[in-house]
Formats: sequence, C-alpha cells, structure tokens
Amino acid sequence: MQIHATVSELRHALKQRGRIVFVPTMGNLHAGHLSLMRQARAHGDTVVASIFVNRLQFGPHEDFDSYPRTFEADCAHLREAAVDILFAPTEADLYPEPQQYHVDPPPIQGQLEGEFRPGHFRGVATVVLKLFNIVQPHAALFGKKDYQQLMILRNMVRQLALPIEIIGGEIVRAEDGLALSSRNAYLKAEERAEAARLNRVLHQIKAAIQAGRRDFSQLERDAMAELDAHGWKTDYVAIRRQADLQEPQPGDRALVILAASRLGTPRLIDNLEVIAD
Ligand code: PAJ
Repeated sequence: MQIHATVSELRHALKQRGRIVFVPTMGNLHAGHLSLMRQARAHGDTVVASIFVNRLQFGPHEDFDSYPRTFEADCAHLREAAVDILFAPTEADLYPEPQQYHVDPPPIQGQLEGEFRPGHFRGVATVVLKLFNIVQPHAALFGKKDYQQLMILRNMVRQLALPIEIIGGEIVRAEDGLALSSRNAYLKAEERAEAARLNRVLHQIKAAIQAGRRDFSQLERDAMAELDAHGWKTDYVAIRRQADLQEPQPGDRALVILAASRLGTPRLIDNLEVIAD
C-alpha cells in the first residue's frame, strides 16, 4: 500500500490507475470501515482510502481533540483489506489556508442529526467535495450507518453533476446488534451491555410498522421513553421516508427509522430500513 500526505504526490500516483474507487474515513478503523474497503474492490481497479479527522464537521463542544487517532493500526488494517493507496493529509495539507468557500446543503441539513449538530453536514459536504476533487474517483462508498450523510452526499453529487457513482454499504454490527462505531470505545462495560437496546428499539418499531401500525409519532415517543427509562438521553427517534428523510405521507412504503441517543459520554446513532406492507 502506498501512503501519501500531499495532494501533488497523490495525484501523481493516481495517474494510469484505471477506475478509482474511494472510501473516505476519519480513521480509527473497524470492521464497518473495512467492509466498505472490501466492497470497493468489486467496483474498480484501484482502491483509495483517506484518513482525515475533519475539524470543519465538529461542533465547538464535540470530540474533535479527543477523537481516537490510531494511524499505525489503521494502516495495518488497510493493508490487510488490500487497499492500494492511502491519502492521509495533515490539516496544513488539506486546509493550507482558512476554508472560506463551503458547500451549504439544503434544509435537510438542519433536521435529525443536523438539529443537534449545527453545521455538521456543511463541514462534511465541504470536505467530501474537496476530497473528491483531489482524488477524482469514479465511484465512492459510504456506510448506511450515517444514513443522512449518505443521502446528503448523493444529492450533492447529483445536483452538482459530479461524475462520481455513490455506493451505499450496509451497516456492520456487533453480535448483539450494536452498530460498530469509533465512539463505542468510550462506553464503560455496563454501558456497552446496555448499548444494544438502541438497535432492539428500532427492531420493535419495524415489527410494529410491519404489523400495520401507522401512529408513527406514538411509536417514536414510546421508543424514546423506553430508552430514557434505561439511562439514555435521547435526541430523536424518527420514522422517515428513505428517499428524502421527510415525514411519511399516507402510501409511502420505503421508510427508515433513525435514532440518536447518548449513553454516558458517547452519543450513538443507528437506523433501520423498513418496507411498510
Ligand atoms: P467515519 O465516521 O470515519 O466513517 C467513514 C465511513 O464508514 C462512513 O461512510 C460511515 O458511514 C462508514 N461506517 C462507519 N461505521 C460503519 C458501520 N458500522 N457499518 C458500515 N459503515 C460504517 O463518516 C465519516 O467518517 C466522515 O463524515 C467522512 C465521510 C469521512 C467525512 O469527513
């Protein structure tokens, strides 16, 4: 695996590399990231990963400084997953001057995750567009774990006519259903055991919808109450339509249940797709 920190070195290495498939990350890699790397292999000739903890997408009171940075272990994982090229810029490489031009996503950026993380998706869209311009991939993979991120980036690529195919990867979970996340490392032992409830609650809602319930607000309230009764501090549990993450209208069938809740220090997110019959 080649590792490059500067844009010019990377561009040089990418010439003559066939169809390029790109998987951007912030590092601290786990099986969820690595499944994207392996899927990337099937979509092109050269797999490029990036590791960059992007300050622009963190709020002032979020965990930018303490975000786990595990570069050596990450490189070992990427080699094992047969990634060809790693782009790991420093902040000075990616933001040599203050970033004054931004990508401002449409109002969906202020809902769900965006309601609780103002400016987050602006920071994500800006860095991803910049990474796309640097790597110039033919395709890029993002996990469904960050469902709203995947949707916002898909729409960005479509509306700005970027010649990049966006591919969504399924969520990789621990055996008890907890979605893998770098932030799971912050969970204390007893919190880790409790953490699986988040996914169980989503499955309860899915089963209720499939059994014919359409009182979505009540289902959302009950799920939040169950979580909070077990020590969680829930930001939202929301039943939305898959296509645009707006509230379902009668007749909408392709739905997704999204949730974000804090258990101790870490804030965990999860979602589950459901087709209402
Ligand atoms: P990061 O949180 O490192 O995630 C990198 C990619 O891995 C994202 O597409 C995310 O959805 C995916 N991912 C994380 N956990 C996953 C899991 N359990 N199963 C499947 N996929 C999973 O998302 C970001 O970084 C950043 O916002 C980024 C897009 C790199 C821009 O800075």
